[in-house]
Amino acid sequence: MPEPNYPFEITDVDVDTAELLMKYFTGETTGFVRVGPKGYFFPNKFKQEAINYYTMEIKPSDVFVTSYPRSGTTWTQELVWMVANDLDYETSNAIPLTDRYPFLEFSICVHPDNMQKFTEENSHDESKLELLRLVTKPGTELIADAPSPRFIKSHLPLSLLPPNILDAKMVYVARDPRDVAVSFYHLNKSMRTQGYNGDFKTYWEFFIKDLHHWTPYFDHLKEAWEQRHNANMLFLFYEELSKDLSASIRRVADFFGKTFSDEQIKRLCDHLSIESFKNNNSVNYDVMKELGIMVGKKEFIRKGKAGGWRDYFDEEMTAQADQWIKDNLRDTDLRFPHF
Ligand code: A3P
Repeated sequence: MPEPNYPFEITDVDVDTAELLMKYFTGETTGFVRVGPKGYFFPNKFKQEAINYYTMEIKPSDVFVTSYPRSGTTWTQELVWMVANDLDYETSNAIPLTDRYPFLEFSICVHPDNMQKFTEENSHDESKLELLRLVTKPGTELIADAPSPRFIKSHLPLSLLPPNILDAKMVYVARDPRDVAVSFYHLNKSMRTQGYNGDFKTYWEFFIKDLHHWTPYFDHLKEAWEQRHNANMLFLFYEELSKDLSASIRRVADFFGKTFSDEQIKRLCDHLSIESFKNNNSVNYDVMKELGIMVGKKEFIRKGKAGGWRDYFDEEMTAQADQWIKDNLRDTDLRFPHF
């Protein structure tokens, strides 16, 4: 039951649908919920944390990087952190991004059955157990005692965060949903918290029917887009970063009131390139592999290209995607830079 002062209804996804989904997504074994008027979709554990997300204390010095998953969050996090911290390469290299930016709601994706497995598997190494406890601890607990400024990663839509969330600074990043789906499909296959075992076409059907974590996709984006003129909100597109990273760095720098020389920006572009990222243990989420949460050959930092979806969509899916995007952009002036 949600707390009495939680303003949104949380309803269980019907048993048949949940059972079908749990056959494909083996990381969840209890079921799923929908939240609020938009029906945001989450694993069952969301119920336990909903009120904590909604009522957590927001400080004006907080910096949130938010997105729908696989939209370039990690890339944006490092960009934002570097800009806000006056290009402190030393600390960036020394402290993993996962420590610098607690992931607010990762804990809801770690089902107790999985937590038990991960704990048993890592039980031979106390330092790994400590790391496991850290990455799976509810984000609201992790940030409660963190020194200011706090840097926080979240995939929650604005409406499920505290109503005064934009007292803090927020950088939201959006990406072509077709590339998002391909990228998230790969991650869903390799993260045991998701444990996806189907093909891409089936995954895509779940995605556009809003039967996937953090969907409905377009509502998520529109909520942030509507706030894009708020002085504390910076709305970016992955495709914009891809096309002209130095221009994006300048936008982020402006947002944080910083000025950098051309040489500083060039060095930051190198630091943020996909090649550097792949080899940078501080940002590439190898921690998930170390703990056995991520398995197989796939990497968290993958291709890093815009438009790769074309290799995954047949003609029918391409037409379906066109229509779905068109329908969802009808009531908004949100436009992707390349559409
Ligand atoms: P692909 O799977 O399409 O390669 P998130 O951080 O939100 O999970 O997003 C992950 C996506 O961003 C992945 O997309 C990943 O490869 C891409 N990405 C991460 N770092 C990047 C970088 N430095 N340059 C370009 N893309 C990057």
